[in-house]
Amino acid sequence: MKIVIANDHAAVELKNEVKEYIESLGHEVINIGTDSNESCNYPEYGKKAALMVANHEVDLGVLICGTGVGISLAANKVKGIRCGVCSETTTARLIRQHNNANMIAFGARIVGSELAKDIVKTFIESEFQGGRHQIRIDMITAIENED
Ligand code: RB5
Repeated sequence: MKIVIANDHAAVELKNEVKEYIESLGHEVINIGTDSNESCNYPEYGKKAALMVANHEVDLGVLICGTGVGISLAANKVKGIRCGVCSETTTARLIRQHNNANMIAFGARIVGSELAKDIVKTFIESEFQGGRHQIRIDMITAIENED
C-alpha cells in the first residue's frame, strides 16, 4: 500500500518511528512533514495529507499531533475523508471494518511508540466489511454533499 503520514511539531519523533515501522511492513510511506520541532499549525498538514487520500494519490493516511484530535478535525473537513482518532487497537480495527476510515489519527502525547505501531498495523491490515456498513457510509457521504 501507499500511505501518507503527516504530523505537527508535537509528533516528529513518533512520526519517524511509525514511518520506519510501516516501511518495515512492506508499504511505501510518503512523509509530508513537518520534520521540524518548531511550532507549526496542524491544519496545514492534516489538509495536505487528506487531499492526497481524497484524490486517490495514496491508499490510506496516518496523522499525528499532540492528541490526534486537531489534525483529524482538519482532515475530516476534506470531502471523502473519514478519519478516526484511536488510542487503542480495537477502535483502529473497527474504524476500518465498520466506518471504512481512510485516515487514522493519534496523539504523540497520548500513546507510546509501541502502542502507536500496533494501532497503525491493525488499521492497515483490517478491511472494510461493507454490507450494512456501506449504507451508513453512503449516508455520511450524502451529508457531505448537502448544501
Ligand atoms: C500543539 O501544541 C497541540 O495543540 C496539537 O499538537 C494538537 O494536540 C491539537 O489537537
